[in-house]
Amino acid sequence: MKTFKIVLISLLVILIVIQFFHPAKNISNAPTPNDISVAYNEPENVRTILKKACNDCHSNNTRYPWYNNIQPVAWWLDNHVQEGKHGLNFNEFTTYRISKQYHRMQDIIDEVKEGDMPLGSYTIVHTDARLTDQEKETLINWAKSIRSEMKAKYPADSLVRKK
Ligand code: HEC
Repeated sequence: MKTFKIVLISLLVILIVIQFFHPAKNISNAPTPNDISVAYNEPENVRTILKKACNDCHSNNTRYPWYNNIQPVAWWLDNHVQEGKHGLNFNEFTTYRISKQYHRMQDIIDEVKEGDMPLGSYTIVHTDARLTDQEKETLINWAKSIRSEMKAKYPADSLVRKK
């Protein structure tokens, strides 16, 4: 019984102490000269979907829920944001080399088709980010159209992923 009490109190202390440590928030007011919309057509309906379902983890601005004030939840959310952003950041899209831009569009098609994005843990709470079949189709067709546009615009070897 005594050890149990000690363990419980230790956990409580740890839980209290970590409340004082928060990861930096992913929030920026800086202009976004490298945004995907600068180089490619981003229709209003696509922008709306990206905003509500993707940008919290794939842009320089996250809309934080209230529970981000609670640790260790904030670390967990920050991990998603950092990983998501690292793989695909719509605000930095034009800084990627052409072959990466081209392949990310295919990745979007695959992830959305498979229902792997947005993350399941995200749509539990963000119910408006659950994509309807119509919204999935809109995103997929958009990504496909950008790939066609790129194919027409750039030499074939620039679209090949470098080893
Ligand atoms: C809650 C955070 C979150 C949301 C919202 C989210 N993603 Fe992601 N995304 C991630 C994380 C984390 C990864 C990297 C790990 C993985 O692949 O599971 C990722 C990876 C990806 C990748 C692969 C990038 C690579 O590195 O290969 C694509 C493409 C992608 N997401 C597209 C989307 C699209 C499109 C949406 C919206 C429909 C979306 N994501 C919504 C967190 C998120």
